[in-house]
Amino acid sequence: MANHKKFSDDTLAVHAGRHPQDNFGVVNPPVYHASTILHPTLDSWEGRKVGGSHKSGRHSITYGRHGTPTQFALRDALTALEGAADTELLPSGMAACGLCFLAFAEPGAHFLIPDNVYEPVRKMALGHLTQLGCVSEFYDPAIGSGIADLIRPETKLIWTEAPGSLTFEMQDLPAIVKAAKEKDVIVGIDNTWGAGYFLKPLQMGIDLSAHALTKYPCGHSDTMMGSISCATDALFAKIQVASRAYGNSVSPDDCYLVQRGLRTMPTRLHRHFESGLKIAQWLEQRPEVSRVMHPGLESHPGHAIWKRDFTGACGLFSILVDAPDRDRLAAMIEGYDLFGIGASWGGFESLAVTSYPKRARTATTWEETGQVVRLHIGLESPDDLIADLEAGFERLAGH
Ligand SMILES: Cc1ncc(COP(=O)(O)O)c(C=O)c1O
Repeated sequence: MANHKKFSDDTLAVHAGRHPQDNFGVVNPPVYHASTILHPTLDSWEGRKVGGSHKSGRHSITYGRHGTPTQFALRDALTALEGAADTELLPSGMAACGLCFLAFAEPGAHFLIPDNVYEPVRKMALGHLTQLGCVSEFYDPAIGSGIADLIRPETKLIWTEAPGSLTFEMQDLPAIVKAAKEKDVIVGIDNTWGAGYFLKPLQMGIDLSAHALTKYPCGHSDTMMGSISCATDALFAKIQVASRAYGNSVSPDDCYLVQRGLRTMPTRLHRHFESGLKIAQWLEQRPEVSRVMHPGLESHPGHAIWKRDFTGACGLFSILVDAPDRDRLAAMIEGYDLFGIGASWGGFESLAVTSYPKRARTATTWEETGQVVRLHIGLESPDDLIADLEAGFERLAGH
């Protein structure tokens, strides 16, 4: 696939990164298992260069940890979808988020992080990054252009997550980018919810787009991986140097699974979007639900931002449930036929979990009294899912 720019994302998801004619016509990139790569001559051994991808023409394989055509194929596909200069692969989504900080970590470095951030990022910032001498400051996700007042000379990275993956506040990303550019500060995003498809952060001027590929690109709840797509070669070099320093490496089998998932991701995402919105609208009418936190709903405070910046919504959103007590809440959730209880999201199946945003906020307060239940709407029939939720409300009422 020579010229990525002329194709739509749906086409890129199907074709980018694949080179069948390099592989006997085989449609999918082969899985190369490798640690040692043999060199034919001493000159080749001593002149080896690490890194490379098909896309950049720097296709050079030197050691298994640094990637083979299997990893390069996935990198290239993600790079095309994000419109990036290049993409680094990491062993998990958290590793990808973490490396965005680690690459800029030094004593005195200042990081700005939204208060509703994915909780392990908060823990890393307050733990390991503090140990390295960095200072993390949490900000109201609704801050918008007000972020300018928090930027210091030593600010190395403004982190964003839109929407937050528990409480679904939207962020005014263009306003944050504008403020950051004026002060020459890097902006990174956890783009897992937008999946590299419904949101195009690099086209908005964001520098680093991190993903938990574990979610929609994999799509089958059976693989862990993360990625960082970088806006420029210089940023990619910075990220790659940090990644290499820590010896990050991803398995070719996992790359195969993720790139295989990626081929159907747009089709799946449209179904998640449609079913999720339908169910969110149904939930809005339920007396047991005091709020539905889905940015695609007109009632959502961030709806206008979502409409401006996103082309769709994935299947993840939360509701606030008025639960009389814990036993009834447990009866509601444990009794679902189709919604499983478990971490992660983005697979083909539906999930329901409780969450407690009050516990993890420092720059803002979470005043809601209802129980937050986060739903992942999978690829089942939305009518079956609605029936399952409806039966759950019966159990909540004690019937
Ligand atoms: C928003 C968000 N970012 C990052 C991650 C981390 O991804 P992983 O589980 O692959 O480490 C998650 C996982 O749930 C997430 O929800």
